[in-house]
Amino acid sequence: MKNVLVTGGAGFIGSNFVHYMLENSDALIVNLDALTYAGNLENLEDVRDHKNYRFVKGDIRDKALVEQIFADYDIDTVVNFAAESHVDRSIVEPEIFLTTNVIGTQVLLDAAKRHWNLAPDDKYSREYKEGVRYLQVSTDEVYGALGKTGMFTETTPLSPNSPYSVSKASADMLVRAYNNTFGLPVVITRCSNNYGPYQFPEKLIPLMINNCMNDKQLPVYGDGMQIRDWLHVKDHCSAIATVLEKGRIGEVYNIGGNNEKANVNIVKLIISTMGKSEDLITYVKDRPGHDRRYAIDNTKITTELGWAPSYTFEKGIAETIEWFMNHRDWMNKIISGDYLNYYNKMYEQ
Ligand code: NAD
Ligand code: DAU
Repeated sequence: MKNVLVTGGAGFIGSNFVHYMLENSDALIVNLDALTYAGNLENLEDVRDHKNYRFVKGDIRDKALVEQIFADYDIDTVVNFAAESHVDRSIVEPEIFLTTNVIGTQVLLDAAKRHWNLAPDDKYSREYKEGVRYLQVSTDEVYGALGKTGMFTETTPLSPNSPYSVSKASADMLVRAYNNTFGLPVVITRCSNNYGPYQFPEKLIPLMINNCMNDKQLPVYGDGMQIRDWLHVKDHCSAIATVLEKGRIGEVYNIGGNNEKANVNIVKLIISTMGKSEDLITYVKDRPGHDRRYAIDNTKITTELGWAPSYTFEKGIAETIEWFMNHRDWMNKIISGDYLNYYNKMYEQ
């Protein structure tokens, strides 16, 4: 791994991953990001001039630009984070989820195939080209929703329920097809809900922390008893690095930390940590088609690759709340722009 193309590196998980790689490897990190509402170069201000870091502003759907980046930097590894990532937005405006998440992935796969000189025959030799790897950052949402029991394993059938999760599942299928048809050395990771520094405040945890900081109501969807399986973003980054290094080509690896929590309990924990009142909780109309429960079985990545999460939820959430309290400028810049329009429209009821 010498020259790594990280797409969506100015977003929440991508920027944490750029930091992780610059601290833990000698690879050149080329960050391609379109800087949508979710992309923020302030997340990377401290590494802007790092000798192993380059930033290219652009769209993963731009074929000519992607080809140029492969050629200019002799890219041997791709980690594709770039996506529209918010379920609620996908319900309001699905189209961009399909173009970015599906077509964008296809453009990256095609550029990798061409630059790495892969042809259909490569697959049948069963010898994958050495030293190159495409990693697709997917999500547990492709598996759909669970009832009260059970967990998602890598063989759980895909059953995505929102336009967002459909777009991610479709991209996964394309990745699988490029492996099967062209011998592209791919791996797919499917992680549970992340939290941590630099998360955009449209997502549950930073939204609730921000509203608590401003003594605003805390909008809990439906009965608040939906369950998510939370993982600190730094543990997601270490898992991706582990899969890049040791994952078997063509395989899917689930990533999770066995940490299921009901939404309302998360909100109550944030309230008590921040010394606020539970009177701020407001139950609002439920998300249409809301998945009830997610839970990741992480046996494959822990036993086969030896990865384990390092954060307990208690430590991770306390650090995260502290991070947001200490980065009010970061938050204030975001919430003073388009975010306000989004928030008013989304939560007007
Ligand atoms: P995010 O919304 O915070 O960041 C997405 C980034 O992609 C932004 O920097 C944005 O500017 C960039 N981007 C969007 N469209 C682009 C395009 N067409 N070309 C180039 N860049 C573009 O998302 P996130 O929460 O950091 O998620 C990153 C990835 O991880 C996504 O693929 C998401 O599906 C996946 N994932 C997220 C979670 C989670 O809990 N957040 C969990 C599992 C998987
Ligand atoms: O599971 C992985 C997925 O986690 C990722 O693939 C997605 O990119 C990421 O956005 C996240 O999806 P969720 O829909 O689970 O995350 P979100 O933070 O939007 O919501 C978490 C839960 O909290 C969900 O059950 C909806 C609920 N919620 C969310 C918001 C924003 C509320 O009750 N109130 C809110 O205001």
